[in-house]
Amino acid sequence: MRVISDSGELRAVLTGWRGRKKTLGFVPTMGCLHEGHLSLIRAAKKENTAVIASIFVNPLQFGPREDFKRYPRNLERDKRFLKKEGTDFLFLPGVGEFYPKDFQTSVSVVYLSKGLCGKTRPTHFSGVCTVVLKLLNLVMPDRLYLGQKDYQQYRVLGQMMEDLGFPCQTRLCPIVREEDGLAMSSRNVLLSANERKEARLLHQALGLVQGLVISGVKSVIQIKKAGKEILAQSSLGRLDYLEVVNARTLSPVVKLKRGDEILAAVAFFFKKTRLIDNVLIKVT
Ligand code: PAF
Repeated sequence: MRVISDSGELRAVLTGWRGRKKTLGFVPTMGCLHEGHLSLIRAAKKENTAVIASIFVNPLQFGPREDFKRYPRNLERDKRFLKKEGTDFLFLPGVGEFYPKDFQTSVSVVYLSKGLCGKTRPTHFSGVCTVVLKLLNLVMPDRLYLGQKDYQQYRVLGQMMEDLGFPCQTRLCPIVREEDGLAMSSRNVLLSANERKEARLLHQALGLVQGLVISGVKSVIQIKKAGKEILAQSSLGRLDYLEVVNARTLSPVVKLKRGDEILAAVAFFFKKTRLIDNVLIKVT
């Protein structure tokens, strides 16, 4: 695995590497890797000649009172994991080089960024778009691999690439879960033992929501109420949102109709640690 920290060197190495029949799969991450990330690397390996991962805890996507400083970091372990999966390149930019003092550009996808996580984290998605566009411009991958846990991020980035005509396919990979159903996340290590026990309620609430939709309930008010009742069993956490939205536009849905593709999504706080999870459902 070739580790590169300098943007100019990355460009030069990849230009030399690229050939007519070679394809490059890209897995951007913020590190502290878990099975969810590794499943993206495996998906990228299957479809491409080579795989590049990046690890960069992007300050632009954290709000002023969010957990940038506390965000878990474990670089040596990450490198071992990536090497074991056969990752070909690892890009590790430094903050100073990536965002020099006079950096002033911000990329926003206006409407898709407003709802769901955008309500509590109003600057988050412009931070994500800015860093990912900069990474894409450097890496120029053929395919970008994203996890379904961050479904809104997947839609926002997909829209950005469509709007700006970025020539890259996007692959959405399934959520990888712990045994009790909790979606794997780098932030899970920040939970106390009791919070960790309660965190399984997110998956349970979404399971109930999915069950109600499958059994034919069409009122979203009723569906959300039932899901929130499960989450109210938590004594340590607090609900940010539980929403049912159209899976493409992310706009709220009131009454379900046959054929609708919907996303049921939840965000839940345990003190400052915010967990998200979701399920995609086709209404029959
Ligand atoms: O999903 C993440 O880990 C981050 O938002 C990403 C895509 C690496 C951008 O910093």
